Amino acid sequence: MLNNALFEEYRYFNYKFPDPQYLGAKIHFLPWIAQYLPDNVNTALDAFAGSQSVSYFFKQLGYRVIANDFLNFNNQIGIALVENTHEQLDRNDIELLFEKSPNKSEYTLMGNVFTGIFFQKEDAEFIDNFRANIPRLKNRYKQAIALATMNRSLTRKITMGHFGHTQALVYANNPERVKRNRSLIRPIKDIFLELLPQYNDAVFDNEQENRSFNENILDLLPKLSNIDLVYFDPPYCNSHADYQGFYHLLETYTEYWRDKQFVNGIKRYEPQRYSGFDKKSDIIQSFHKLFELSDFIPNWIISYNNRSYPTIDTMVDMIKPFRNVRVEYKTYSNSRGGKGSVAGSSEILLICTK
Ligand SMILES: C[S@@+](CC[C@H](N)C(=O)[O-])C[C@H]1O[C@@H](n2cnc3c(N)ncnc32)[C@H](O)[C@@H]1O
Repeated sequence: MLNNALFEEYRYFNYKFPDPQYLGAKIHFLPWIAQYLPDNVNTALDAFAGSQSVSYFFKQLGYRVIANDFLNFNNQIGIALVENTHEQLDRNDIELLFEKSPNKSEYTLMGNVFTGIFFQKEDAEFIDNFRANIPRLKNRYKQAIALATMNRSLTRKITMGHFGHTQALVYANNPERVKRNRSLIRPIKDIFLELLPQYNDAVFDNEQENRSFNENILDLLPKLSNIDLVYFDPPYCNSHADYQGFYHLLETYTEYWRDKQFVNGIKRYEPQRYSGFDKKSDIIQSFHKLFELSDFIPNWIISYNNRSYPTIDTMVDMIKPFRNVRVEYKTYSNSRGGKGSVAGSSEILLICTK
């Protein structure tokens, strides 16, 4: 009996979430977070899902998962790996993605805007052509796998794994750097082909109706009901909160913006999406609204950091009218944590219960 129960609990843990490269991803904190999950969760909301590492973990636990991120390239990972139950990219799909696209003339954005900044002409044209073929795939799950895998290939290719700098081609032309990281000069097609099996193999069905959303969480919450647990992992205001500055290229590639301007050295799109959680001037009001709108969800777990604004004490005071709150600390022992991973800074969980 016990063996059966254990088997039930762990049966989805043979699947492996492809290693993300995303600032603030909580993949290395999952065992710690798991200690504080309440019993008897049926439905869990991952409100600021980012790389989807926590949503995927919830899926492995057998929860019904609602994932959400206001950036669409993150939502595509959620569609591919959280919502999707069985679709994969097969040999025919891969051939279709690589063939010369009948729509190629309408897809020149990467070549026009980013050649000489992040890519050589050949790579930029390759990803434009690939992007032109994505809508030709049979369904939204296959399309999402193609986008998620290609976006991950781009963070593998570009030095530092983000697009908030203009050093990509400088590093790619430096033999010392290349010796340390060959991805800098590998064709994107090769990187994509190496990563695709990891994404295909991560697809599974946990027999729940999981969903991925692409909304500002403050707009989404009023539309939801029947949720047992919400996990909040907002940007840490004060350190690396500007996700659109770091990952603008992935959002531009995913949305294929035709109505934006591309500004400054990195060619970030403008106007940006409104977050409410990335600027000091908005954040107190946004948290207040977030807590008010989440009152229908009994259990909240909030990731936080002792260097963020507002302070932990202020956060606790803001939560108190709604929930009992307990603070758990984990001090960084190395620099794997990404955001806030500065020596001496602590990762925090605010455990909020009724
Ligand atoms: C710290 S990251 C989440 C990391 C995630 N837990 C993981 O493991 O990868 C914060 C995320 O919040 C998203 N975000 C920022 N403002 C948002 C908003 N108003 N609504 C929804 N998502 C938002 C960002 O795009 C970013 O992906």
